[in-house]
Amino acid sequence: MRRGSGQAGDPPAAGKQAEPAVRSLFATSRVVTWHSDLAAWLDRLGWLRTLSDWLTAVLGPFRERHQDNLVVELMHGGRWVGHPLHPALSDLPIGLWAGVVVLDATDRDPAPRHGIDAAGMLSAAGILAAGATVLTGLDDWTVSNDQDRRVGLFHGLLNTVALGLQGASLGTRLAGHRGTARALGAASLTVTAAAGYLGGHLVFTKGVMVNRVAWAIGPRRWARALQEADLPDDSPTAVEAEGRQIMLYRHRGRLYAIDNICSHAGGLLSRGPVADLTVTCPLHGSRFALADGCVSRGPASQPQPVLPTRIRNGWIEVRGSQPAPRRSASGRTQP
Ligand code: FES
Repeated sequence: MRRGSGQAGDPPAAGKQAEPAVRSLFATSRVVTWHSDLAAWLDRLGWLRTLSDWLTAVLGPFRERHQDNLVVELMHGGRWVGHPLHPALSDLPIGLWAGVVVLDATDRDPAPRHGIDAAGMLSAAGILAAGATVLTGLDDWTVSNDQDRRVGLFHGLLNTVALGLQGASLGTRLAGHRGTARALGAASLTVTAAAGYLGGHLVFTKGVMVNRVAWAIGPRRWARALQEADLPDDSPTAVEAEGRQIMLYRHRGRLYAIDNICSHAGGLLSRGPVADLTVTCPLHGSRFALADGCVSRGPASQPQPVLPTRIRNGWIEVRGSQPAPRRSASGRTQP
């Protein structure tokens, strides 16, 4: 019998005929689409949409009034922390409540106990940590984009249910009803895990609170962006150079070029006002210095990339932060 060499063009070996069929079954089945189906289903829930709109109407103006408040900014994580606080804090209740379930599962002492035991201590610590997690999550929620808010709200509602179950678990534990406390603690952790999954969906699938310009590096060589005569003074102007969206600004003859996509959630900075050489994002009010891209107000936590500029033959040219390697006279690329 002829055996395949494993190279392209070989016929499939006996026993491997069914592999493509199995692969196609998994590729088209709910096994690989359920998470996106779930997010789409949540997005269609009418009551969730209504609640989200109502909360936005209540919290949006409140946040706008207090967006200069340092506590509000610090709850995002902000420029001092360098990334959002909420995902880091959310690890605390999950870990502490998982500890509760492990201690309950390994506790072999049948004697009824009143008062707080080790599992109760973890439960109480998790409840305290959940309070801080809720506040930071709510703060982040108010600056998320419309379509992410419904899933974010459901994530928050699940966490609220989990917090209630954990509170009931702690209460029954203190009263000496350990069996009920264990069941409620396990239920709380299960709901928390489901909520955590949705939080992961928001970050890893939707990019919520992820730096939107982390991969912006081009153009690798000087590229024409705009004719110099077409740039008005003191007016933010959106241009594109080799696919990168850039905001140009000229003040007293000095040129500034900054990435036009806000690092927080993708707002277009060229549509925001500029004052004192600082641009304010029109979506959620982050502020960036035009000279170096530094954040002077959150919710953005990452600086905005700035690009070097020059004028050649009447054109404003820009170059990315990673210039292409220089070529030597011999044509070889130099590092
Ligand atoms: S997109 Fe949120 S501050 Fe710019």
